[in-house]
Amino acid sequence: MTPNELMQKAIQAMQQSYSPYSHYRVGAALLSRDGRVFTGCNIENAAYSPTVCAERCAFFKAVSAGVRDFEAIAVVGSREGGEPTGAPPCGVCRQVMAEFCDADSFKIYLMGKSGEIVCHTLGELLPSGFGKGNLG
Ligand code: THU
Repeated sequence: MTPNELMQKAIQAMQQSYSPYSHYRVGAALLSRDGRVFTGCNIENAAYSPTVCAERCAFFKAVSAGVRDFEAIAVVGSREGGEPTGAPPCGVCRQVMAEFCDADSFKIYLMGKSGEIVCHTLGELLPSGFGKGNLG
Protein backbone atom coordinates (compact mmCIF):
# COMPACT_ATOMS: atom_id res chain seq x y z
CA MET A 1 0.00 0.00 0.00
CA THR A 2 1.43 3.40 -0.97
CA PRO A 3 1.47 6.38 1.43
CA ASN A 4 -1.08 8.06 -0.80
CA GLU A 5 -3.46 5.06 -0.70
CA LEU A 6 -3.18 4.95 3.08
CA MET A 7 -3.83 8.70 3.25
CA GLN A 8 -6.99 8.29 1.13
CA LYS A 9 -8.28 5.88 3.77
CA ALA A 10 -7.50 8.44 6.49
CA ILE A 11 -9.43 11.08 4.55
CA GLN A 12 -12.40 8.70 4.30
CA ALA A 13 -12.20 7.96 8.03
CA MET A 14 -12.19 11.70 8.79
CA GLN A 15 -15.74 11.83 7.45
CA GLN A 16 -16.86 9.89 10.54
CA SER A 17 -15.28 12.42 12.92
CA TYR A 18 -17.56 13.32 15.82
CA SER A 19 -16.25 16.76 16.73
CA PRO A 20 -19.13 19.11 17.66
CA TYR A 21 -16.98 20.99 20.22
CA SER A 22 -13.67 21.69 18.47
CA HIS A 23 -15.01 21.52 14.90
CA TYR A 24 -11.61 20.02 14.10
CA ARG A 25 -11.90 16.78 12.18
CA VAL A 26 -9.20 14.10 12.24
CA GLY A 27 -8.91 10.79 10.40
CA ALA A 28 -6.26 8.10 10.70
CA ALA A 29 -5.45 4.90 8.82
CA LEU A 30 -3.10 2.42 10.49
CA LEU A 31 -1.34 -0.19 8.33
CA SER A 32 -0.39 -3.48 9.99
CA ARG A 33 2.56 -5.57 8.86
CA ASP A 34 0.18 -8.19 7.47
CA GLY A 35 -1.39 -5.55 5.20
CA ARG A 36 -4.58 -4.78 7.07
CA VAL A 37 -5.79 -1.21 7.56
CA PHE A 38 -7.52 -0.01 10.73
CA THR A 39 -9.12 3.39 10.51
CA GLY A 40 -10.05 5.83 13.25
CA CYS A 41 -11.54 9.27 13.75
CA ASN A 42 -11.63 11.66 16.68
CA ILE A 43 -14.64 11.15 18.94
CA GLU A 44 -15.39 14.06 21.27
CA ASN A 45 -17.49 14.19 24.41
CA ALA A 46 -19.49 16.86 26.23
CA ALA A 47 -17.30 16.21 29.29
CA TYR A 48 -14.26 16.92 27.04
CA SER A 49 -11.68 14.63 28.69
CA PRO A 50 -13.22 11.35 27.44
CA THR A 51 -12.45 12.55 23.90
CA VAL A 52 -10.31 10.12 21.93
CA CYS A 53 -8.01 11.09 19.08
CA ALA A 54 -8.25 9.49 15.65
CA GLU A 55 -4.85 7.83 16.01
CA ARG A 56 -5.66 6.11 19.30
CA CYS A 57 -9.06 5.08 17.94
CA ALA A 58 -7.26 3.28 15.09
CA PHE A 59 -4.68 1.69 17.41
CA PHE A 60 -7.29 0.46 19.88
CA LYS A 61 -9.38 -1.05 17.10
CA ALA A 62 -6.32 -2.91 15.82
CA VAL A 63 -5.00 -4.10 19.19
CA SER A 64 -8.46 -5.21 20.28
CA ALA A 65 -8.65 -7.26 17.07
CA GLY A 66 -5.42 -9.02 18.07
CA VAL A 67 -3.06 -7.05 15.82
CA ARG A 68 0.15 -5.60 17.31
CA ASP A 69 2.64 -5.29 14.46
CA PHE A 70 2.47 -2.06 12.53
CA GLU A 71 4.22 -0.43 9.62
CA ALA A 72 2.75 3.06 9.23
CA ILE A 73 -0.09 5.42 10.04
CA ALA A 74 -1.55 8.21 7.89
CA VAL A 75 -3.15 11.15 9.69
CA VAL A 76 -5.16 14.06 8.34
CA GLY A 77 -6.82 16.87 10.27
CA SER A 78 -8.68 20.01 9.29
CA ARG A 79 -11.13 22.55 10.56
CA GLU A 80 -14.64 21.75 9.30
CA GLY A 81 -14.70 22.66 5.62
CA GLY A 82 -11.03 23.76 5.68
CA GLU A 83 -7.75 22.55 4.29
CA PRO A 84 -5.57 19.90 6.00
CA THR A 85 -3.33 21.53 8.60
CA GLY A 86 -0.41 19.08 8.55
CA ALA A 87 -0.85 18.63 12.30
CA PRO A 88 1.20 15.83 13.88
CA PRO A 89 -0.16 13.37 16.49
CA CYS A 90 -0.50 14.66 20.05
CA GLY A 91 1.88 13.49 22.76
CA VAL A 92 -0.52 10.93 24.20
CA CYS A 93 -0.97 9.31 20.78
CA ARG A 94 2.80 9.24 20.24
CA GLN A 95 3.15 7.43 23.56
CA VAL A 96 0.54 4.83 22.51
CA MET A 97 2.39 4.34 19.22
CA ALA A 98 5.64 3.83 21.14
CA GLU A 99 4.08 0.92 23.03
CA PHE A 100 3.63 -1.09 19.84
CA CYS A 101 5.88 0.40 17.19
CA ASP A 102 9.57 0.56 16.42
CA ALA A 103 10.94 4.11 16.74
CA ASP A 104 13.21 3.83 13.69
CA SER A 105 10.97 2.03 11.23
CA PHE A 106 7.37 3.06 12.05
CA LYS A 107 6.30 5.80 9.63
CA ILE A 108 3.86 8.62 10.32
CA TYR A 109 2.44 10.26 7.18
CA LEU A 110 0.88 13.69 7.57
CA MET A 111 -1.10 15.64 5.01
CA GLY A 112 0.07 19.24 4.57
CA LYS A 113 -1.85 22.34 3.52
CA SER A 114 -1.36 21.77 -0.21
CA GLY A 115 -2.16 18.07 -0.01
CA GLU A 116 1.48 17.00 0.11
CA ILE A 117 2.40 14.01 2.27
CA VAL A 118 5.17 14.51 4.83
CA CYS A 119 6.77 11.46 6.45
CA HIS A 120 8.35 11.19 9.90
CA THR A 121 9.55 8.20 11.86
CA LEU A 122 8.11 7.72 15.34
CA GLY A 123 11.61 8.30 16.74
CA GLU A 124 11.71 11.75 15.15
CA LEU A 125 8.44 12.73 16.80
CA LEU A 126 9.09 11.04 20.16
CA PRO A 127 12.81 11.12 20.90
CA SER A 128 13.97 9.67 24.23
CA GLY A 129 10.46 8.41 25.00
CA PHE A 130 9.54 6.36 28.05
CA GLY A 131 8.92 2.71 27.27
CA LYS A 132 8.81 -0.89 28.51
CA GLY A 133 12.61 -0.91 28.77
CA ASN A 134 12.53 1.80 31.42
CA LEU A 135 10.48 -0.32 33.83
CA GLY A 136 13.53 -2.44 34.56
N1 THU B 1 -7.04 15.25 17.84
C1 THU B 1 -6.79 14.05 17.22
O1 THU B 1 -7.72 13.34 16.83
N2 THU B 1 -5.51 13.67 17.07
C2 THU B 1 -4.43 14.38 17.52
O2 THU B 1 -3.32 13.86 17.49
C3 THU B 1 -4.61 15.75 18.00
C4 THU B 1 -6.01 16.13 18.33
C5 THU B 1 -8.44 15.66 18.03
C6 THU B 1 -8.87 15.71 19.48
C7 THU B 1 -9.99 16.72 19.40
O3 THU B 1 -11.19 16.04 19.05
C8 THU B 1 -9.62 17.64 18.26
O4 THU B 1 -8.63 16.96 17.53
C9 THU B 1 -9.08 18.99 18.69
O5 THU B 1 -8.04 18.86 19.59
